[in-house]
Amino acid sequence: HSDLSPTISRRALLVGGTAVAASALFPGIPRAAPVEPKVIELSAAPGRVSLVGSPDTETNVWCYGNRIPGPDIRLRQGEPVRLVVRNQLPEDTTVHWHGIRLPNAMDGVPGLTQPPIKPGEAFTYEFTPPDAGTFWYHPHADSLQQLGRGLAGALIIEEPEPVPVDRDLVWVLSDWRLRSNAQIAPGFGNGMEAAMSGRVGNTVTVNGVVSEDEPVRAGERVRLRLVNTSLARIMALRFEGHRPTIVAIDGQPCEPHEPDNGRLLLAPAMRVDLILDMQGEPGRRYRVVDDFYDDLSYWLTQLAYKDEPPLRAHPPDSPLRLPRNPLPEPDLTNAELRELRLQGGMMGGGGMMGMGGMMGMGNQASWSINGHSMTGDGHAGMPPLLTLRRGRSCVLSMRNETAWWHPMHLHGHSFRVLSRNGAPVPHRQWADTVLVRPKETVEIAFVADNPGDWMLHCHVTDHQVSGMMTVLRVA
Ligand code: C2O
Ligand code: CU
Repeated sequence: HSDLSPTISRRALLVGGTAVAASALFPGIPRAAPVEPKVIELSAAPGRVSLVGSPDTETNVWCYGNRIPGPDIRLRQGEPVRLVVRNQLPEDTTVHWHGIRLPNAMDGVPGLTQPPIKPGEAFTYEFTPPDAGTFWYHPHADSLQQLGRGLAGALIIEEPEPVPVDRDLVWVLSDWRLRSNAQIAPGFGNGMEAAMSGRVGNTVTVNGVVSEDEPVRAGERVRLRLVNTSLARIMALRFEGHRPTIVAIDGQPCEPHEPDNGRLLLAPAMRVDLILDMQGEPGRRYRVVDDFYDDLSYWLTQLAYKDEPPLRAHPPDSPLRLPRNPLPEPDLTNAELRELRLQGGMMGGGGMMGMGGMMGMGNQASWSINGHSMTGDGHAGMPPLLTLRRGRSCVLSMRNETAWWHPMHLHGHSFRVLSRNGAPVPHRQWADTVLVRPKETVEIAFVADNPGDWMLHCHVTDHQVSGMMTVLRVA
């Protein structure tokens, strides 16, 4: 990745117990203090890539670092970083570091947390990621078009002591709507689609290409980091012939478990880390199928076993549990309770709820939260729907009154998912994006410890920009 140019290398870690300052915040990470930030340059610009894998069918895209997906950015937990973002697009942009608990001014929401980066200009983001895990980055301006044209990349924060695996793989999954000439179909922000499932495309890429094969070796143990960067496509993945173990969701470690019914739900913006023991037969291929939409089942890629003897006879018995991140535990007995009602969109029978309409144009509101429709990607003067006292624990009950699925994302915090329709969620998994099913009520809890104005929105981008968005203030 030559476009990733760390011009200042990180200072060497101190050996043993000599470091003090940063290790107080991140126990177990001894390091020198103060630490010079690692510097990374990132440009957003138009480009041409081959998504379908043949050089004579190139697609005009917008991309980071001249590639699709953008370069994997790998940092270490507790290591400060300075990211210089240059805008070479024909319009304003920003970058949101999705899932990172960072200072509000670094959150990348135009108008709300920073002025937009104008064409030809640059903005420097600086933060120290407190949590290890799988995160991602994407624009928060003209999101439908900018994300839909390819601006997205993985942001990996490495644990000081990762679980031992043979390979650490990242699959950035992206959904495109391509015409037969491989060009991106125009018409972002179609009111009809916006009131339904959003702009679901017709071509899914793995790390920027329509994938036939993912070469694997029998017996190896792989950590597979999945990132769904789609505008709207929800995925339900099955690994034929394999039993993946989920070890982290949205970057946050969880109790290692197998997906329910072997089907891994991955909505837009969600990440899942899997441990995959390659127990298939050398020389064989096993499909990775996505069957979320009944009528649109397809396979994403195939685990293609090399015709080689297995690396080992049995899976290693080393533990799969990742070290936990320094998240504040919400105090449920003293929490503030708030309700969010998610409303709008087309009804199953073709009727209309809410204030928008299928004749709606562009960002016309068709969705709302508690009766308010905040549209777009962020702008100045967005009044907060909720104000939470800093340090207070909060339980948010999100009631989906619509006929559609909504992956709800909160900026600046990670939350525990407490319950679904009143039934406790096992281990109260941490997340930053929670998929709320049609008519479902999901309760989440977190400590409002990060001051500032934070977005809370659906990550089906059409839903976000047409009203399913609000601001939560921590003060
Ligand atoms: Cu990944 Cu406000 O979004
Ligand atoms: Cu939604």
